[in-house]
Amino acid sequence: MNFNNKAILVTGSAGFIGFHLSKKLIQEYPSVTVIGFDSVNTYYDVRLKEERLRLLEETSKRPETGTFHFIKGNLADKALVDSVFSKYQPEIVVNLAAQAGVRYSITNPEAYIESNIIGFFNILEACRHSCDNGALGVKHLVYASSSSVYGGNKKVPYSTEDKTDHPVSLYAATKKSDELLAYSYSKLYQIPMTGLRFFTVYGPLGRPDMAYFGFTNHLVKGETIQIFNYGDMYRDFTYIDDIVEGTSHVMAQIPKEDENKVRHKVYNIGNNSPESLLDFVETLENCLIAEGIITQKGKRELLPMQPGDVYQTYADVRELEKDFGFRPKTSLKEGLSRYAQWYKSFYQSK
Ligand SMILES: NC(=O)c1ccc[n+]([C@@H]2O[C@H](COP(=O)([O-])OP(=O)(O)OC[C@H]3O[C@@H](n4cnc5c(N)ncnc54)[C@H](O)[C@@H]3O)[C@@H](O)[C@H]2O)c1
Repeated sequence: MNFNNKAILVTGSAGFIGFHLSKKLIQEYPSVTVIGFDSVNTYYDVRLKEERLRLLEETSKRPETGTFHFIKGNLADKALVDSVFSKYQPEIVVNLAAQAGVRYSITNPEAYIESNIIGFFNILEACRHSCDNGALGVKHLVYASSSSVYGGNKKVPYSTEDKTDHPVSLYAATKKSDELLAYSYSKLYQIPMTGLRFFTVYGPLGRPDMAYFGFTNHLVKGETIQIFNYGDMYRDFTYIDDIVEGTSHVMAQIPKEDENKVRHKVYNIGNNSPESLLDFVETLENCLIAEGIITQKGKRELLPMQPGDVYQTYADVRELEKDFGFRPKTSLKEGLSRYAQWYKSFYQSK
């Protein structure tokens, strides 16, 4: 796998996964050019996005690192997206920009249509036209899907062979739509594409809207934490380094043709080891206590299930392992401990 001398467009580069992926690419490949694209929206604390961009800029100034260019803009701005493709002519595109989150889609549905449908469509069109007039164009589009496409499926672990026709949130519906749009563009214009169904990603510089981060903030303030479905929920928590490593394996290899001669494939990237929410909270509290962030465990309020939530997520990663010899390996204790160390250095040293 070598990304040297390649131009790679990473959308969502001020976001959690896009930041870590961009950083790994410029750190490991001195002659890669990463073009970061992000609207830096205010869905969660912008200071965290600004910090990620600052770290990327700082890293790219070091000797022996690749180049990082950042463009602030909205994927829904077709003219801007087209101009980025014309100017930088990316060989690989990784589309991570999206409106994420399940609960927010109940109150702000427009944001999901704008970013995940119109924005993704603009990426597909730009990939298509990158090959105009015999240009080499985009060789591989890798895009983020989500474990949420499995909806309320009862059969576990979730396999990419399973049906995903019953989304229980608008977020899930947009991610499933992206997979279908990508398949059709891949077939129509022979552009290799790979969709990645990520399973609850956590780690340093993570997302404050996600449960582990919210729990931490409440525990630090001595507030009660709210646990839904009375704690009877299971999540396949996946550490960010595993997600980034898996994504870079996938980026380097275009999918083989399927039975319809289409180079489009979808993989699960998850830990293959679901944890109960109550055990998760216990491990988180222990890691926060070990770092001196809190001194004692918090109070818990057990509440019913929220609309849009699913009972469990559990990734079957055999396809990923078969095609790339890779599967996530970081234990929850190790990952949460690294998250707690970062949280302490970021919030408590200031
Ligand atoms: N983190 C997870 O647990 C998880 C799980 C499943 C899927 N995903 C998917 O992975 C991708 C990355 O997730 P993340 O956790 O890094 O989320 P994130 O919210 O931290 O990052 C997404 C970034 O996209 C940007 N963005 C949103 N709409 C945009 C638009 N229209 N134009 C330009 N930029 C826009 C946001 O400003 C943000 O910085 C998303 O597609 C998400 O749906 C994440």
